[in-house]
Amino acid sequence: MKKFIKIAGVGLTILALVIAGVLTWVNLSSLPTYPVQAIDIQVPKDSLSIAKGRKIAETVCAYCHRSENGVLDGRMFTKPDSDFGEIWAGNLTHHANGLNRYSDGELAYLLRTGIKRDGKFLGPFMLFPTMSDKDLGSLIAYLRSDAPSLQASEAVHTTNYSLLAKALMKFGALKPMTYEGKAVEAPSNTNKVAYGRYLATSNYMCYECHSGSFETNDVLVPENSVRYFGGGSPVDDMDFNIITSPNLTPHPEHGIGQWTYEQFKMAVTSGIRPDGRALSTAMPRFALLDDAELDAIWAYLKTVPPLGPVTAKAEN
Ligand code: HEC
Ligand code: HEC
Repeated sequence: MKKFIKIAGVGLTILALVIAGVLTWVNLSSLPTYPVQAIDIQVPKDSLSIAKGRKIAETVCAYCHRSENGVLDGRMFTKPDSDFGEIWAGNLTHHANGLNRYSDGELAYLLRTGIKRDGKFLGPFMLFPTMSDKDLGSLIAYLRSDAPSLQASEAVHTTNYSLLAKALMKFGALKPMTYEGKAVEAPSNTNKVAYGRYLATSNYMCYECHSGSFETNDVLVPENSVRYFGGGSPVDDMDFNIITSPNLTPHPEHGIGQWTYEQFKMAVTSGIRPDGRALSTAMPRFALLDDAELDAIWAYLKTVPPLGPVTAKAEN
């Protein structure tokens, strides 16, 4: 018996050493790198396209990249004690520490795949594989413009991924999208429902927060996401309180089936619910969207299959 305990003890010690070795490797070796490409993207110069790019940049990108200074020079996106560690959304202003590092083609490639200029994957936070080439070009045109929120800031931020995040990246559970090299087109805005779907999924990321969980979202075929538009994702507000995203399906009790278009518009653009409550900062303010866009998103949401109440408790 004594001998057995001794052997078992040696075995456990070896196992512990092996585990410690793997953890040290995960923690200290560098993250995987992927080939970087510069996509051949058309960046328009006309004011209409730049205005479209502005809408995406000042709502979607700004939600994560706007700092307290008002410019898009980056903010802390997840806290040091979060599962993924301390992650900062970087500097997008006209500075060598910001977007000046990127060519237009490299930026397009980053937005399509998540692969940074240094070849590392930045995590599944901002992937736009289905945004049309035209809108992607317009977005880049705006990001190169002299808009006040892009004025040079020298801010530098350092992300410290947690051991878990590193392990997920190293073992390939979190990895970039493959760049298909195919042309991506948006549906015509004369098809209101199809256009609304495009806006709600490919441009303004509504479904990403308003489905069941960030882990089960399907970026390429959003309808395959668990509880598509049925809510339940844990979303951090700007003070890192977790807010469970609400159900936007047309369910009459649990969704927004009884809302009017005007109530919807007010909530989305100004953050005021029909009962007068102000939505938390977990919900971006889409004040720049015009009636045609809001009306299309509204028409599309009415066609989404209604889902019952959010039951899962939000966890971080
Ligand atoms: C949900 C949050 C979120 C949204 C939305 C978002 N980003 Fe980011 N972005 C991040 C995070 C987090 C990082 C940094 C991750 C890291 O440190 O690797 C980042 C990094 C970047 C980088 C820097 C890469 C580098 O090499 O340092 C660029 C450029 C960028 N984002 C552009 C954009 C643009 C353009 C948009 C809008 C289309 C956008 N992001 C929307 C969270 C977001
Ligand atoms: C970054 C995550 C995020 C994105 C992106 C997002 N939302 Fe939200 N939204 C939320 C959260 C969280 C709430 C709940 C906030 C609260 O109750 O304080 C919310 C609330 C709402 C509400 C109010 C619903 C209710 O029952 O109170 C509507 C309507 C809404 N969002 C529509 C949209 C639309 C349309 C889009 C895209 C144009 C969108 N959201 C994009 C996170 C998001």
